[in-house]
Amino acid sequence: MGETQKTAHTLAIANRKGGCGKAVTAIRLAAGIAKHGKRVLAIDADSQGSMPVSFGAAEPDKLANTLATAMTQ
Ligand SMILES: Nc1ncnc2c1ncn2[C@@H]1O[C@H](COP(=O)(O)OP(=O)(O)OP(=O)(O)O)[C@@H](O)[C@H]1O
Ligand SMILES: [Mg+2]
Repeated sequence: MGETQKTAHTLAIANRKGGCGKAVTAIRLAAGIAKHGKRVLAIDADSQGSMPVSFGAAEPDKLANTLATAMTQ
């Protein structure tokens, strides 16, 4: 009733080939969408942790809450 419907969209970047820009694409997409005022949850399932490093977490292994900690609880 007059409320704006909020719809979440899920984007996944996947390719079997290594080093083809999956992380860079995901990071740039997340940053670009956020720049347009949208709320973005970026999830990095790669154990290399490229995404958190790109967003400023120098030592992702030391973060308190990660996908890895959630999966091992
Ligand atoms: N469009 C591009 N132009 C030039 N270099 C790029 C481009 N996209 C990615 N790269 C570079 O290619 C390398 C691999 O990129 P990235 O880490 O995003 O790939 P990936 O697919 O996530 O790799 P992996 O399979 O190892 O997880 C990085 O050094 C990145 O800076
Ligand atoms: Mg990667």
